[in-house]
Amino acid sequence: MAQQNELVASSSWPAQFLHYVSRRRQRFYGVIAVALVMLAAATFIYGGFATGIDFGSYVPRPKAALPPAHNDGAAGTVVPTGAHGGDAVQTQIPTAPVTQTQTQTGDDAGHPAQTQTQTPPVAVQPGIPAKIWQILLPKSSSKSKESFVADPQILSDTPTWLAMNTDYVYTLVGQKGGDEFVRKHFGTDQRIVDAYTGMPNVGMKSDLLRYLILSAEGGVYTDTDTVALRPIDEWVPEGVRDKAAVVVGIEWDRRDGPGWTDISHWVQFCQWTIAAAPGHPVFGKMVERILASLDDLAAAHGVPFGQLAKLDSFEVMNSTGPAAWTDVVFAQLQEYDPSLTDTKDLSYMDEPKLIGDILVLSIDGFGMGQPHSKSTNDGTVPEDALVRHLFKGAWRGDKRKRRI
Ligand SMILES: *[C@@H]1O[C@H](CO)[C@@H](O)[C@H](O)[C@H]1NC(C)=O
Repeated sequence: MAQQNELVASSSWPAQFLHYVSRRRQRFYGVIAVALVMLAAATFIYGGFATGIDFGSYVPRPKAALPPAHNDGAAGTVVPTGAHGGDAVQTQIPTAPVTQTQTQTGDDAGHPAQTQTQTPPVAVQPGIPAKIWQILLPKSSSKSKESFVADPQILSDTPTWLAMNTDYVYTLVGQKGGDEFVRKHFGTDQRIVDAYTGMPNVGMKSDLLRYLILSAEGGVYTDTDTVALRPIDEWVPEGVRDKAAVVVGIEWDRRDGPGWTDISHWVQFCQWTIAAAPGHPVFGKMVERILASLDDLAAAHGVPFGQLAKLDSFEVMNSTGPAAWTDVVFAQLQEYDPSLTDTKDLSYMDEPKLIGDILVLSIDGFGMGQPHSKSTNDGTVPEDALVRHLFKGAWRGDKRKRRI
């Protein structure tokens, strides 16, 4: 019996082992299959949402070089915020370990997948990004533009913007930054590059640059001779914050008064301060208007555009400045509200008005302290004043002097 039992046991041992192994193998393959399905699903989900996780570029790299996934996204938002970020990247690359440099380029290489999802929006997303832009370009007459350093006094009002708008990203765009911005965002449109490079004077260059900046990045552009009176977050009345994509102010409202030389509209919008969500069509139209105006001016003066030198103040205002800006903004407003026939229809506004996705402020919004247009000019700061323009004329001193 004992022998037989032993025999049975010993003869069944390999059989049992084989049976066990085959079950284990089934389980093994089962686990592999489930793992493959999960991997495929993960690849599909991450790939589909383009979260920036790039399996292709991760695989060959040593583990130590892999950045945490959230860093990848953070790098994408931090890079464009200002000169310091750019400098830091430039100085890091030569000193950083090779693997880190690869990570940097890997991130850049990974971004095209993200930018593919950033095709120009069909409808503009309302909301003003938390960015403040000012422009400080050397005057055309500056001998050595490369080494241009402004008198710090020019920026004496800028702290009002910083103090009232903590956590906003502030960028002071200079000559180099302006050139780079235009090349980076509009480099494929030679007409824009040529117009920017060949602008007859620095005021017109600054004009064009502000529209390009707001078109590409959005935020608030404001001249260096403006004072912030209220936090930008409070500019748009609460009830329309989910609708306003552009904020424009009135600088001139003729009302029932006489016209002024150089001012061709009954109501004129200012462009010393503009707030916008990026990608609004009004800026593309403004750029087209500028290009057309430059052609018209070249034809009128009988010289190629690059040789336009002395333009009078109206020619400046009607090509890149407030007269041209008013034409373009008003045409946009008319698209939203065909009952508008003339800027006069916006005369006597005493509170902000949302037309389409453009919020039009009344005169005191951006234009308080002026001796016309029923602007509050008695030394007090009215409730609805958001910005004060000091007319220091950093860019077009001669023009402003003639007007005021
Ligand atoms: C303003 O400029 C536009 C575009 O160049 C032109 O058609 C128009 O005649 C100009 N306006 C005046 C009053 O000169």
